[in-house]
Amino acid sequence: MFPESMRVRKIIGNWKMYKTIAEAKAFVASLAFVAINNPIHIGLAVPFTMIASAAEAARGTLIAIGAQNMSDEAEGPYTGEVSCQMIKDAGASFVIIGHSERRRLFQETDFIINRKVIRAVNSNMQTVLCIGETLEEYNQGVTKEVLKKQIMENLQAVTVEQMKLITLAYEPVWAIGTGQSATAEIAEHTHQFCRELIANKWGKNIADHLVIQYGGSVKPENAGGLLDQIDIDGFLVGGASLSLDSFTKIIQSQQIKVS
Ligand code: 13P
Repeated sequence: MFPESMRVRKIIGNWKMYKTIAEAKAFVASLAFVAINNPIHIGLAVPFTMIASAAEAARGTLIAIGAQNMSDEAEGPYTGEVSCQMIKDAGASFVIIGHSERRRLFQETDFIINRKVIRAVNSNMQTVLCIGETLEEYNQGVTKEVLKKQIMENLQAVTVEQMKLITLAYEPVWAIGTGQSATAEIAEHTHQFCRELIANKWGKNIADHLVIQYGGSVKPENAGGLLDQIDIDGFLVGGASLSLDSFTKIIQSQQIKVS
């Protein structure tokens, strides 16, 4: 579990629909050594099928294992769905909700995402809520409006106490999987805006402790510059988290700043 008492950097790999159980176990075993030497939170959001074995491999290490999605229902006749209790039972200590691929490819609306967030926090599950604008929205200059709508609607009815379970991940859709990361300046400006919104709604204390990750083409080459920014507290890493070498380098890029 990630303790939420202070803003410790948090770097999570989102494996999306990649890897086998055997690969996951080997990856976690090797990553455990990297985690020992790094005073940050490290997580892997793995496919449902490998949560249990990855969590078993991560037992006793500093690596948190999470899921990439969950149902908005508690249980019932919902063929193909996986509940919050089920991912918890399998060993997940966090869940990603509202990833742009879920919004875009699986038609998840702000309403559904809010239901999932509420379900997760009511189950005391740490939740990484993804938000971000599309390229079209970015070009139209409506990024702030889009993010404000997502934050307000996706976190609607989340209490101050429950906000301690939330991590925000700003992932501009135009930066995901494109090799084109947001510049450190653009990302910092946006993170600041999100933190202010959170402060206005849930209070300064919550906003000061809220971890806001950046996601979108994070690589060893750009990680250090992004982490130099005050309001960038870590990353949600896609493609570069599939390779132990590049994920390790991204984790190590923050070492200089913590000491
Ligand atoms: P990439 O790092 O591959 O751009 O993906 C980012 C992402 O979607 C993480 O959730």
